[in-house]
Amino acid sequence: LLAPSVPGPLAGRHVLVTSGPTHEPIDPVRYIANRSSGKQGHAIAAAAAKAGARVTLVSGPVNLPDPVGVTVHHVETARQMQAAVDGALPADAAIFAAAVADWRVASEAGEKMKKDGGALPALALTENPDILAGVAQRTEGRPRLVVGFAAETQNVVAYATAKRARKGCDWIVANDVSAQSGIEGGVMGGDRNAVHLISAEGVEPWPVASKTQVAERLVARIAAFLGSETS
Ligand code: CTP
Ligand code: CA
Repeated sequence: LLAPSVPGPLAGRHVLVTSGPTHEPIDPVRYIANRSSGKQGHAIAAAAAKAGARVTLVSGPVNLPDPVGVTVHHVETARQMQAAVDGALPADAAIFAAAVADWRVASEAGEKMKKDGGALPALALTENPDILAGVAQRTEGRPRLVVGFAAETQNVVAYATAKRARKGCDWIVANDVSAQSGIEGGVMGGDRNAVHLISAEGVEPWPVASKTQVAERLVARIAAFLGSETS
């Protein structure tokens, strides 16, 4: 049975998006997490669906409704996010907007840790898998377009350019999440964003806009890229 297809520049395409933070449990009541509202990633998923794509959104814990017309997989940890991403492939384009926790505790406590006993607990950490790099460096089943995000508080363009090369993705959407970003109230949790699009062609500064507008602009670029290549 064919899914009803929505007309638009991404009709017939499958777009995969990650969004939100991940939560890495320390014990049954505590976790390590990144700051992320999920607003930008969810806006990208919604914009891609509006453009006619079949969209799979893999989301960490957020306080946002599921975007209309999007298949959503809800996950908590980085490893669950990676499994859901792998399970959702193949895709024509994959956009990694999630703020994945870089580390998890090496061994999660089965019971709540108690503070009585004197000595402070030491958390032994281990690194989480890099979901974006894993997909970008696939030799088989790599999406034609792999897009990462880089939230930086300093040297935004230089760090993001290095990140693009290191991860092997096609584009990086870089944003300044410092208090000096010039965006009132800040980027994190807010509704506006100022980004640079970094590709093999160079660095393109985009004007400050709502997260919805940034999503629509990115989706238009994705459609132009996929449309200009033969499948
Ligand atoms: N990312 C990912 N899996 C991870 C870490 C990051 O998929 N374990 C993705 C993010 O979704 C984002 C990009 O990689 O698209 C960059 O994330 P970022 O945290 O900026 O990069 P890191 O390589 O973790 O570097 P940093 O030390 O700056 O945190
Ligand atoms: Ca990181």
